[in-house]
Amino acid sequence: MVNAAMLDAAQRHEQSPALQRELQQYRQALLTSLMTSAAMVEARDPYTGGHLWRVARFSMTLAEHAGLDALESTRIGIAGFLHDIGKIAIPDAVLRKPGKLTDDEFAVIKTHPEVGASMLAGHPLAALVEPAVLWHHEMPNGRGYPQQLRGDAIPLDARIVGICDAFDAMTSTRPYRAGMPIEKALEIIEQQLGEQFDATLGRLFVDLGRAGAWQHIVGHSDDGIPLGVCPACGPTLVRTQHTSDGETVTCPACFAQLQWQQEEGPAVSAPSIQQGRHWRAVPTGQRALFAVAQPDPQLINQLVQRWAALKDL
Ligand SMILES: [Fe+2]
Repeated sequence: MVNAAMLDAAQRHEQSPALQRELQQYRQALLTSLMTSAAMVEARDPYTGGHLWRVARFSMTLAEHAGLDALESTRIGIAGFLHDIGKIAIPDAVLRKPGKLTDDEFAVIKTHPEVGASMLAGHPLAALVEPAVLWHHEMPNGRGYPQQLRGDAIPLDARIVGICDAFDAMTSTRPYRAGMPIEKALEIIEQQLGEQFDATLGRLFVDLGRAGAWQHIVGHSDDGIPLGVCPACGPTLVRTQHTSDGETVTCPACFAQLQWQQEEGPAVSAPSIQQGRHWRAVPTGQRALFAVAQPDPQLINQLVQRWAALKDL
């Protein structure tokens, strides 16, 4: 099987431009398929719309501010997008349970990093994302999982993605609780520096948050796109850059059918108030039997293209 090392070795040799283009297309297609399968996890969970995009965005920005170059920061952003790929194997009864998990159910959830890593094993691009997939729930105090790694034994990618994943979980709305204000979540990270979160990276994340760096990511599912609000369930609706006026959407939590409409005037949408023209999801009165969330190919393509341009195959 072709792997990343073979691709890199091929890259170092003189190649015809046509072969280089072919290799580049091959790598991009591989990464696109990997990211699309990660997006399937999100499609199964009604309350995590936009989570992967947000974790990717937080992770890429934190990595940049930590001094990593553009290629490494983009790779860590991609790792943020893929970090929960192992949740594909978690049964719906656990993954979609509205409320607190029992110890047994939590034990099932805790398998997802290792399941994710074993799913990736042998994939040509596994090395790009494996550390974040396997170790994003480790904690510097050794109380994380799956391997109870401590401090700097936790790879940098995983320390970055771990902070960003936890922050997004805290600031996102769930069926049993509203998302926390940004400042409250930052205070929790601050209290856990050196314990649950890497002290240096966590401090940087908090400082960036207080400078306003996360405002345009929290509560969004893409750049400039806040989550839409279902009147019954809250911010569960993902809109894309290509949504058109009048297009219908099904709430992934209650299956109510809604219609996107553009309106003038201020609209409250966590964490900020949108001014001017904004989108609102208006109930049609119809209800679907189920909701099929679809990965957004354009959004995935943005990250793939960014990485491909920097990788300069
Ligand atoms: Fe996770």
